[in-house]
Amino acid sequence: MDGNGRWAQLQGKGRVAGHKAGVESVRACVSSARELGVKGLTLFAFSSENWQRPKEEVSVLMDLFMFVLTREVKRLHKNNIRFQLIGDKTRFSEKLQKKIVEAEQLTKNNDAMILSVAANYGGRWDISQASKKIAQLAVNGEVNVDDIDEHMLNKHINLSNLPELDLLIRTGGDYRISNFLLWQAAYAELYFTETLWPDFKEDAFKHALASFGDRERRFGKTGEQVRTK
Ligand code: IPE
Ligand code: MG
Repeated sequence: MDGNGRWAQLQGKGRVAGHKAGVESVRACVSSARELGVKGLTLFAFSSENWQRPKEEVSVLMDLFMFVLTREVKRLHKNNIRFQLIGDKTRFSEKLQKKIVEAEQLTKNNDAMILSVAANYGGRWDISQASKKIAQLAVNGEVNVDDIDEHMLNKHINLSNLPELDLLIRTGGDYRISNFLLWQAAYAELYFTETLWPDFKEDAFKHALASFGDRERRFGKTGEQVRTK
């Protein structure tokens, strides 16, 4: 979800206004995804590197996260959406951590869609934390080193409760993944758009899904193999 700051600047406003406007795009995309039957939607809200931003901006983002979580969790629950946070929770304030856990608990049995919010998240962190868990299991004698494979790693990496990642969207005109779902994106279709996040609403989201529908996914096979299947 990139481009909040630039959007605000174009309006002659401060960056905070961009983040607030971005919340409306979150709502639009979540409800659109839910209506269209998307099973999993993962939003990159705050990277492990975003802590390096000016203190005031970080603080506003945390307050906004707290505010939105408080305001929206009932609506998510009503729509049978499960909420989960992926990322290292321990760096958030105790109050925010509590809110996150409450939201996860309340919605844990919902099964229409899983909404994952990646916060204090990084793809490399994700792969490292999974490796650490497996190393500990090996030390405990619960895992054989020879049995460590992609499948095992996958089980300890975030979003293992979701199907394979299909589509990765980046708004804001930069053509990079920026440490998002590195492991999960192995076969994902990539969609880049110049649209700034606060302008990325239902129509833009549908446009991205339509583009996904036009792609030929070969998973290493030839085009002919896939088409004659
Ligand atoms: C994305 O918008 C929001 C977060 C990272 C929280 P930016 O804040 O990165 O907006 P730009 O890139 O400065 O326009
Ligand atoms: Mg940015």
